[in-house]
Amino acid sequence: MMIPACRLVDLPRGEAFRLDIDPPVSVFHTDDGELFAIDDTCTHQDASLADGWLEGCEVECPLHASKFDLRTGAVDAPPAKLPVRTHEVLVEDGMIYVQVSTDAPNLPPCVASRLAGGPA
Ligand code: FES
Repeated sequence: MMIPACRLVDLPRGEAFRLDIDPPVSVFHTDDGELFAIDDTCTHQDASLADGWLEGCEVECPLHASKFDLRTGAVDAPPAKLPVRTHEVLVEDGMIYVQVSTDAPNLPPCVASRLAGGPA
């Protein structure tokens, strides 16, 4: 399913836009002008990667500084161990769309149990 995110003009380079779906997905606009979408929630604990630091093709988690590669979702620095999912991004008529992956997300245990309706 293609989900509209925001207009390209509203997402300057170096910024991220969080789509409030479950689980949330964020679109990053790199300094080089590339667009990437990954799961917004860090795989270590409940932190929003859109609030992290974007550097090149990597985002650093704002909580414990794990780094994720925006191109592959791979973790480049601990303490997170599992990768985030990556999603396809498409721009049409100035609008950014995200094709959300159908793979199972690697959510941290506290978030996974909350989404499943269990205790937080
Ligand atoms: S919550 Fe992201 S590294 Fe701990």
